[in-house]
Amino acid sequence: MIYLDNAATSFPKPSSVYESVMKAMKVYGANPGRGSHAMAIEGARIIYETRELLADLFNLDDPLRVIFTFNATDSLNMAIKGILKRGDHVVTTEMEHNSVLRPIKELEKSGVENTIVKCGTDGSINVYDLEKAIRDNTKLIVTTHVSNLTGTIFPAEEIGKVCRAYKIPYLLDASQSAGVLTIDMKKYNISFLAVPGHKGLLGPQGTGALLINSDIEVKQLKEGGTGSQSASLDHPNFYPDKLEAGTHNLPGIAGLNAGLKYILKRGTESIYSHEKNLLDIFITELKKNPKIKIYGPESIEDRIGVVPINIEGMDSSEVANILDREYGIAVRPGLHCAPLAHKAIGTEKLGAVRFGVGPFNKKKDIMAAVKALKELAG
Ligand code: ALA
Repeated sequence: MIYLDNAATSFPKPSSVYESVMKAMKVYGANPGRGSHAMAIEGARIIYETRELLADLFNLDDPLRVIFTFNATDSLNMAIKGILKRGDHVVTTEMEHNSVLRPIKELEKSGVENTIVKCGTDGSINVYDLEKAIRDNTKLIVTTHVSNLTGTIFPAEEIGKVCRAYKIPYLLDASQSAGVLTIDMKKYNISFLAVPGHKGLLGPQGTGALLINSDIEVKQLKEGGTGSQSASLDHPNFYPDKLEAGTHNLPGIAGLNAGLKYILKRGTESIYSHEKNLLDIFITELKKNPKIKIYGPESIEDRIGVVPINIEGMDSSEVANILDREYGIAVRPGLHCAPLAHKAIGTEKLGAVRFGVGPFNKKKDIMAAVKALKELAG
């Protein structure tokens, strides 16, 4: 199989990831933080080390402000619903995934106002439009770093500057960029960073994190056992326990630990440059066929390796099915859980066939996809 669905989840992972998951299950698979025996201590050590790796990768001072979650959706819900209250206003954009839009729409039912800023047909955001949407009661700005539909890169650093000027916390959804683009929480003024563990960070599914670089209160959405202050009936009020109730996904976190070590060793610049080279070949080749419509920014510099396309006269599901069955190529068709983004680029009815390259794809994978698409387009 030629796997080009890395925007949904990365595959394959470095072999060290599989080994770490297995070791966590077979060698020290106890409950970290819930006992003082050697196995529990080893689990707790791996968990703390993984917090440190995440803090290191995203330039956050305090590893205890790295909260483990089950995916980016979990992280985004935690931040959005933990911060906003009735009477508050939140600014976001049309390019957001449903993991941002749905919690915001849900909060609207309990009196949290929102403005969804319009985006360009290439998925780009005008930072001035975002700034114009700010009101006196704006308590949060949430944007994606990279659109999961078009691969468009948002100017996170510039948006961070606006947030700093208006003293509004900035929640960045790095679902597509974490592990690919450099993200410096302090330099970009990112207050909250939501990341999945299973995409660019190369960890297993069921892992994610919310990194907190702000003293704004985030109310927990659940209470329970934390292994700390166990005599108290009140949930702890310190990080990470405040936002981490219940047993951790230790095998998942151990796998994420190995994924992060791989990324820190190879470097995001090298991963991004590899993906950009493949993206360049893919787009240059597809542009030669007028029956293939490519969405997203014109310039390679404004996008990462997430490319939606359509073939004239063909349904996106049909294209993906043929790619799967006849060419052994895995992609994602249809709507990509980002309904307003589809509207912005004009694919709300058609959907699109999305190609997502990853750090282990090779030029031959891209050329196989190009050949298949050209044959289908005729
Ligand atoms: N959010 C993931 C995607 O965009 C699953 O495909």
